[in-house]
Amino acid sequence: MGKIIEHIGIIGTGNLGTQIAIKADELNYEVQFVYNRTKDKAHELAGLVDAKALSILENLPSCDILFLTVPDHQISLVIQELLPLKEKLKDTIIVHCSGATPMNVLKDFELYGVFYPLQTFTQNKTPDWSHIPIFLEGCNLEVTKTLEIFAGSFSNNIFVQNSEERLKIHCGAVLVSNFVHALAHASLQISEQQNFKQIYFPLITETVQKLQNFQPHECITGPAKRKDFTTIQKHLSLIQNSEIKKFYEIMTKYIQENII
Ligand SMILES: NC(=O)c1ccc[n+]([C@@H]2O[C@H](COP(=O)([O-])OP(=O)(O)OC[C@H]3O[C@@H](n4cnc5c(N)ncnc54)[C@H](OP(=O)(O)O)[C@@H]3O)[C@@H](O)[C@H]2O)c1
Repeated sequence: MGKIIEHIGIIGTGNLGTQIAIKADELNYEVQFVYNRTKDKAHELAGLVDAKALSILENLPSCDILFLTVPDHQISLVIQELLPLKEKLKDTIIVHCSGATPMNVLKDFELYGVFYPLQTFTQNKTPDWSHIPIFLEGCNLEVTKTLEIFAGSFSNNIFVQNSEERLKIHCGAVLVSNFVHALAHASLQISEQQNFKQIYFPLITETVQKLQNFQPHECITGPAKRKDFTTIQKHLSLIQNSEIKKFYEIMTKYIQENII
């Protein structure tokens, strides 16, 4: 039987911190406080979820779960700032939300874990949480159970996964999301078009939809798959940006050597 989560604290009111606070509030958890170094940003989110806005860590009120939603490279720094409050936080489950950071960075606290939702979050777009895969890890069985129950109210797609597996999943997520957005940007540069939605959106939509029914290797078409070497050379002569050109060459080789 896990602990009952009622009160939530958030450190870092950026893209993910904002969306967790909004969803938790919608689910009737009490968002006790939101902390941001920049006071105005804390106030902005606090107003939305009826929470206390904080910009000084020493004043943290107690809560059942504390989210560290700061960039991966700042997690250790925030942990150092929180350690003097360790006694006050002994009944609080402290979680980070990073796919690439091991759980044990939190090992100096009593109760800790990881809550990693595999989705791309931005502050201004409310996601549908119901199918978002959430990868959890807890410092002991009770914490894991508590996180499962809590995360289960956000989504019906919950996994318990260790830090090593989570890192691999996170790396895959960078490929299928961040790199796709970067490639969308590059496609406009190469084609000298402005309107991604009008020109490429039907193609990218079909590309994604096919993946609902087929394995990636069954979906792929294009010059590399067809061995249209003349077309590949024409494209390579056209691409000005040396990084995009390198990427085109590397992915063409990857398709030819791994997918055909
Ligand atoms: N966004 C996503 O799609 C996504 C998805 C899954 C997991 N995650 C994970 O969620 C975490 C947060 O990512 P994010 O995209 O929400 O980041 P973000 O939008 O850049 O927001 C980061 C927040 O952390 C604050 N912050 C930065 N350094 C700090 C420090 N030293 N002390 C206190 N606060 C600090 C920032 O405050 P200021 O406003 O003062 O700069 C900002 O509020 C990361 O671990 C990331 O891997 C993100």
